[in-house]
Amino acid sequence: MRNLTEANLTDAVLAKLEGAPDARFKQIMTSLIQHLHAFVREVELTEEEWMTGIQFLTAVGHKCDDKRQEFILLSDVLGVSMLVDAINHRRPGGVTENTVLGPFYVHGAPEIRNGDDMAAGWKGEPTYVAGRVLGTDGEPVPGALLDLWQSNTEGFYDVQLADTGGRQLRARLRADDEGRFRFRTIKPTAYPVPTDGPVGQILDRMGRHPMRPAHLHFIVSAPGYETVVTHLFVEGDPYLESDVVFGVKNSLVIDFKRSDSEAEAEKLGLKAPFCKASYEFVLRPAAARAKQQKVTSAVDAARA
Ligand code: BEZ
Ligand code: FE
Repeated sequence: MRNLTEANLTDAVLAKLEGAPDARFKQIMTSLIQHLHAFVREVELTEEEWMTGIQFLTAVGHKCDDKRQEFILLSDVLGVSMLVDAINHRRPGGVTENTVLGPFYVHGAPEIRNGDDMAAGWKGEPTYVAGRVLGTDGEPVPGALLDLWQSNTEGFYDVQLADTGGRQLRARLRADDEGRFRFRTIKPTAYPVPTDGPVGQILDRMGRHPMRPAHLHFIVSAPGYETVVTHLFVEGDPYLESDVVFGVKNSLVIDFKRSDSEAEAEKLGLKAPFCKASYEFVLRPAAARAKQQKVTSAVDAARA
């Protein structure tokens, strides 16, 4: 353990993990150290660059508080959040895909009833969203809970605004006995992730824009089914190909069809012109997920 060199320093650090009692922790730390050292070697990091990195991570930490999580934002824009999501939510075709949760979810949004307006008082294009929650055999999921949230037309969520008088543009809605849901809102618009911190600076240095394509957030859950954390994206949005957090999936991009029909608008409780969107969420029974995880673990064990 003396006179360590470029050639044997990594092994010396890894050897220090021998006594770690938690096998999973040991596996994660071993891999992290190996990759960190390999990175430093590959780019031949200078001392100035190392210090810049330390200062950057320090600034990310300083930007965090109970309302702002700059580390998650960093993970999002580097694609780590979506990679973790992909690994943890491998689903068969036909089951609704997950995408990134994002930092603006709030527990305990107001409960609304089918057909209610979750954007009452907010300016924007009136929009009607309807659909069903089904299981993988096409069975309706009665009483499924839909947690919904979105930004306003300026691209801000309620928690980013100084005073909105409580929870806004977010709601919890229960599907009916046939798994059907419907609600009114405003058409979502594209918006930038927060750029007033170190993540904004690093995006700029990478020559990247900060935009997310227009979307509505959903968490769809029901007892006995795997919860889906997802979005519905607006077809035609210019940022679908370059979402700053890499969250777009084809199966989640839908038409928000424009209608000028006064009669239809009146029937739905809106004013024309308005947009109409529909979607069927398909949830996987929790037992099917548990079975797949067992098979995956057995395959991993056989490979090891
Ligand atoms: C969002 O969609 O709310 C979001 C996701 C990742 C980072 C920032 C915002
Ligand atoms: Fe969002």
